[in-house]
Amino acid sequence: MPAHILVGTQWGDEGKGKATDLLADDVQYVVRYQGGNNAGHTIIVGDRTLKLHLVPSGVMYPHVTPVIGDGVVIDPGVLLEELDDLVDQGLDVSKLKISGNAHLIMPYHRELDRVTERFLGRQKLGTTKRGIGPTYADKAARVGLRVQDLYDMKIFRQKLDTVLKEKNAVLSRVYNRLPMKAADIETEYAVYAERLRPYIADTMALLHDALDRGETVLLEGAQGTLLDLDHGTYPFVTSSNPVAGGALTGSGLGPRHVERVIGITKAYVTRVGSGPFPTELRDETGERMTEVGQEYGTTTGRRRRVGWFDAVLARYAARVNGLTEHFLTKLDVLSAFSTLRVCHAYRYDDEEYEHFPPHQSIFHHAEPVYSELPGWGDDITQVTEYHLLPKEAQAYVDHLEELSGVPIRYVSVGPARSQTLERH
Ligand code: GDP
Ligand code: IMO
Ligand code: MG
Repeated sequence: MPAHILVGTQWGDEGKGKATDLLADDVQYVVRYQGGNNAGHTIIVGDRTLKLHLVPSGVMYPHVTPVIGDGVVIDPGVLLEELDDLVDQGLDVSKLKISGNAHLIMPYHRELDRVTERFLGRQKLGTTKRGIGPTYADKAARVGLRVQDLYDMKIFRQKLDTVLKEKNAVLSRVYNRLPMKAADIETEYAVYAERLRPYIADTMALLHDALDRGETVLLEGAQGTLLDLDHGTYPFVTSSNPVAGGALTGSGLGPRHVERVIGITKAYVTRVGSGPFPTELRDETGERMTEVGQEYGTTTGRRRRVGWFDAVLARYAARVNGLTEHFLTKLDVLSAFSTLRVCHAYRYDDEEYEHFPPHQSIFHHAEPVYSELPGWGDDITQVTEYHLLPKEAQAYVDHLEELSGVPIRYVSVGPARSQTLERH
């Protein structure tokens, strides 16, 4: 009755979509447990590329039931568009299940995300402007609307009227925007309600029944450990809990079900949006890394910031998530460099930190301490067995494993499902 958790160990975009798709081959359920359409997960199988925002990455397999769990925030219009797209591409989405406890992203959440970012000026977070933060804020403030509210329009309207009074006051008086009309929102969401009705399920009960039958559930994280609201680089984080603990609250499973916690880890580091990034490269090497790795956002198209591998973060992610293994991605991108650097500690004020520093100011000013390793130069995208990788590439992987303290079980050498090498 195992559950497996798949979690990003950095600032997102580690390749969770590819890893989930690959590992979904022998599971029965794939569950998104937090985040919303701020996520962008890419899957490539054959000549087909899917960019998923809300639908779990197991959707390519007919034997997988994709589940959107309690902890997710759903923009229903966006979800329906994504489903239509998948159907147009010939995929069957009829097995999708959506939790009635998931919160709804409303038009005022999207608007507030945009105007508050503008208001913050130079302090802005660089959010995806999808309304994620304002929706989770309302959830915590207990004024959110949930998917289940769509199926009692009287309650939906009551809750909407109450919350909209406050939202409109803020939008018009603080941000000088036009107020929104409850009737328009109700009409729009009533249409979504009908279209989503076939997918709504008691997802928590469904997953427990599956585990009781001995089936396997894969919990697919969005974002990453350093974007976690509690454990990331606050305030430059998202508003949910991508870490392994969030997989439990976001799906309704308990810790005793979890057998594996797989950390998806890029062979270097990227970040979209604002916030500290000790190993960031702002030079030609960085530009090369961006281009070779095609580091442009799946959701917003923004250029991702790039930097050398950071083992301090890897160690931190191993602890916070209780990782049992790493899935290392994009090793092929490093073929472009003759010398590779790996950060094994930070220096600040004459002190060295092997572990994530306890105060934000130390992290903001941390100087990475690097070791250098020789590159391998050869194209490795066609390598089919781990032991056939150049010895320098194997030494690099060994080094990361030693520094992070968790076995690296998979090594990915290209975006396709087939470009994955199993190591142990
Ligand atoms: P996610 O948000 O963690 O699912 O990651 P994204 O899909 O946003 O970004 C990862 C990008 O890297 C996607 O374009 C993937 O197709 C691509 N990718 C994944 N694994 C590899 C790999 O091993 N090598 C290369 N070159 N690209 C990869
Ligand atoms: P996947 O699942 C990378 C970042 C945003 C911003 C911060 C807050 O594809 O890895 P938000 O809109 O969530 O309030 O923005 O979080 N961010 C991501 N960065 N990958 C993601 O998802 C992200 N989702 C949010 O860029 O810095
Ligand atoms: Mg992404």
